[in-house]
Amino acid sequence: MKTIVANWKMNVGVRESVALARGTLLTVRGRKMIPELIVCPPFVALGEVKKVVARSAASLGAQNMSSEDSGAFTGEISARMLQELGVSSVILGHSERRALFGETDEQIAKKVQQAFAHQMTPIVCVGESTEERDAGTAREVVRNQLAGALSNTRLRGSDTLFVAYEPIWAIGTGRSAEIGDVLEMHAFIRSIVSEVFSDASAKQIRVLYGGSVNGDNAYQFFREEEVDGVLVGGASVKLNQFREIVDAAAEVLEAQSPI
Ligand code: 13P
Repeated sequence: MKTIVANWKMNVGVRESVALARGTLLTVRGRKMIPELIVCPPFVALGEVKKVVARSAASLGAQNMSSEDSGAFTGEISARMLQELGVSSVILGHSERRALFGETDEQIAKKVQQAFAHQMTPIVCVGESTEERDAGTAREVVRNQLAGALSNTRLRGSDTLFVAYEPIWAIGTGRSAEIGDVLEMHAFIRSIVSEVFSDASAKQIRVLYGGSVNGDNAYQFFREEEVDGVLVGGASVKLNQFREIVDAAAEVLEAQSPI
């Protein structure tokens, strides 16, 4: 299975989200083999987009949520609220949240626990900055982020956990990571999960790549067994580009399917 997570960020309103959700579903219509699609609109559009994707090939994801269960946290959105809206996955620890809103590994760990407690799939984002890559500390950074995010969590056999490797320098820059570096980091991510949990968990988790994924480079990621899918920002709100990413996934899935 290959997964495409569409992170629409703060780029679309409610009406645009509904139109985009409809358009996104059209990109998989009539295909023999389709990737798993998770669309992540802004909070305010979740309810309307849920109506569009109900009983479709796509499921609903959120872009963030509170680390707290309930209480006096003005402006926050809890896991329970998302669950009530039919959200089944949630992006956690995106680098934009870490850098712009000061999210810490401790908060992200609490969010991961909240997600599992409410039967949601966490999509935990990790990735190094340019400076960290140049300094040769990319692996250390990713290890700390991931071990931090998974601390005090238990992964049961039925849980799904996505880890998205999104190097910060590749996000929104048009410069995706080299496939060799992606494969190395994905294998490293599995080795960390094996240390934190078990070998079985390392096989069970799904590892995504994110950062300037587009129609031109998506195929090289999908065709690798080590890459379970992609997390797409900019190209997910441009349907012609998104369709090309779906084309690439479908091509790989068709090539892999038994005749
Ligand atoms: P871009 O695809 O725009 O580089 O964004 C990646 C991202 O941040 C997805 O979460």
